[in-house]
Amino acid sequence: MADRDGLFAGDDPFDIARGWLAEAERSEPNDPNAIALATVDADGMPDARMVLLKDIEGQGTDGSFVFYTNYDSAKGRQITATGKAAFVMHWKSLRRQIRVRGHVTRVEGAQADAYYDSRALQSRLGAWASRQSQPLESRAALAAEVAKLGLRYGTRPPRPPFWGGFRVAPVQMEFWADGAFRLHDRFRWNKEASGGWFVERLSP
Ligand SMILES: Cc1cc2nc3c(=O)[nH]c(=O)nc-3n(C[C@H](O)[C@H](O)[C@H](O)COP(=O)(O)O)c2cc1C
Repeated sequence: MADRDGLFAGDDPFDIARGWLAEAERSEPNDPNAIALATVDADGMPDARMVLLKDIEGQGTDGSFVFYTNYDSAKGRQITATGKAAFVMHWKSLRRQIRVRGHVTRVEGAQADAYYDSRALQSRLGAWASRQSQPLESRAALAAEVAKLGLRYGTRPPRPPFWGGFRVAPVQMEFWADGAFRLHDRFRWNKEASGGWFVERLSP
């Protein structure tokens, strides 16, 4: 597209996303990799919460976005049932957002183990101890569970079988940047049946 220059230039939406995230890492006060993740439940009722984006993998038409969570959590069950999710990243300091919609698969095995092992011990034990999204009697009950699991696993807990990554492979991405007088720039990338990307400018 002729006028897709500056911030929006390039043929690889994952490179653009990496570039914007790298800028946000320099300007955001915290969690520049936070994304608002949207799912739907069995009744079609939407749900949303923040998670941390841990990887932007691959390139061209084969890239994807990875985050980690509990597979038995509300979001984990919703994604397992639908195989779909959407998310948005918004950076107040840059006045930009990226929207993504796509198909979701699990990140398990060595890749998930490596990320799990890179986390602080208390976080690793916490992943074991927390039955995420289930009612919890008290904070003390959770602390007791963490302590008990610490005794069982020591300093090298294995990755819990119910905890790992999800990989979002986009069918659609949109890059948005603030413009003067609300005349924002928007470019939507749609994955075509042929496998390539079709990019178009959208009205603000
Ligand atoms: C900035 C931020 C980052 C978060 N990152 C994660 C994350 O990476 N993984 C996760 O499971 N929960 C994360 N949470 C907690 C989730 O928002 C949410 O409370 C939890 O995952 C349960 O969601 P669910 O009941 O919809 O499954 C984060 C919360 C905030 C505010």
